Amino acid sequence: MAPGKKENYFGRNLSPQQAEKVVADLREVMLGLVERWVFQGRFHRELARGTLPIEAIRVFWQNWYGFVAEINNLHGCAYQRHLPFFKRHPELQGHFANHVADELIHPKPPGHIRIVLEQGRIFGLKDEEMIDYEMLPECRAFLEYFRGLLYEGTMAEWWTSFCLEEGVGHWARFFGDALRQAYAMTDDQVLYFTVHSEADLEVHEENIIGHGDLDWMVLRKILENGRGDTRPGFSLEYCLRTATAYFAWFFEGVYQFIKKEGLYA
Ligand SMILES: [Fe+2]
Ligand SMILES: [Fe+2]
Repeated sequence: MAPGKKENYFGRNLSPQQAEKVVADLREVMLGLVERWVFQGRFHRELARGTLPIEAIRVFWQNWYGFVAEINNLHGCAYQRHLPFFKRHPELQGHFANHVADELIHPKPPGHIRIVLEQGRIFGLKDEEMIDYEMLPECRAFLEYFRGLLYEGTMAEWWTSFCLEEGVGHWARFFGDALRQAYAMTDDQVLYFTVHSEADLEVHEENIIGHGDLDWMVLRKILENGRGDTRPGFSLEYCLRTATAYFAWFFEGVYQFIKKEGLYA
């Protein structure tokens, strides 16, 4: 069976080993796409070389503020919508509650969004330039994809797409390293990227598991429980590929805006 492809897992209770295999294949697809579409994309190639104008980083950050402000809220809404599944898995529910709380209270309330504002100030933005900013459509699309999935998609579609969070953790590490190495920023000046890569990839703050690990764990449990249903035109692999494409377009949109290409010519 090719990785995830158009396989429909609805009503099939996969064994832990089978679920593990599906997830491992999906993970390989996602990490490969993040490498090709994000890290090898022109925004990040120039960022790593230090030739991306700081203005591009600022515009990116204005959009990222809008994204973080709402995606963490949608993630909290998933806690409400998917509660019945988590009631059957109290162990997973504990991890999920930690994940929701983590985004909202660490390192202190209101959580990661507070660091987004702090990081924006370091990039030279005023708070109102982030808060009142009208997001570029390419960037908003990433957010709207998740909003659409949450309200019209299946639980499996949402969690599979959310497994991109591990990729976002690797991205935060890449971005923080580039700022230190190519833009001579100090550790204190890349705060968001450090906090974020640790939260998404590692055990942190008194045994909270990495957000990425939790997402994959939930997806495995969904598959073991025969809940891997997807709508026509959606498969697990499609969800992850599409989420990753939106993530890549986020940067491409900013790049086109800065270089006055496409709709911005
Ligand atoms: Fe976060
Ligand atoms: Fe996260």
